[in-house]
Amino acid sequence: MIEKLKQIAVNAAKGSYAPYSKCCVGAALLCKNGEVFSGCNIENASFSLTNCAERTAFFKAISSGQKDFSEILIVTLKDGEILENSFAPCGACRQVMREFCSDDFKIHVLSKNSLKTFTLGELLPQSFSPENF
Ligand code: THU
Repeated sequence: MIEKLKQIAVNAAKGSYAPYSKCCVGAALLCKNGEVFSGCNIENASFSLTNCAERTAFFKAISSGQKDFSEILIVTLKDGEILENSFAPCGACRQVMREFCSDDFKIHVLSKNSLKTFTLGELLPQSFSPENF
């Protein structure tokens, strides 16, 4: 499954709209039912309205009726090459993940020579979440 997620994320990064940073981020979000949603970053001249690859994948999945997720794989490409240190999810993406996922949700970051795996709990400890309501 990891190999499939790698392939989908790299392919998604190629669809990214990143004229400002030139960093093309791709994500592959695996649902508990086996379905995979891809996402890419979509930049904006205002910068602040940029949407990250992870949130694109989540919003596609949620708007398609999926709400149960098991893992996500993320990769960053520059000039068509996978970065030595691909981006880990930004704070906004971590918080969006926490809306739909628990602390054991797995986040894989694919870099040129490594695949690092974290849990959401590790990347967003002591989180504010729907359980607070
Ligand atoms: N980016 C993502 O797509 N995901 C992240 O979690 C980190 C940052 C994108 C946003 C922007 O298009 C580019 O990477 C540089 O910040």
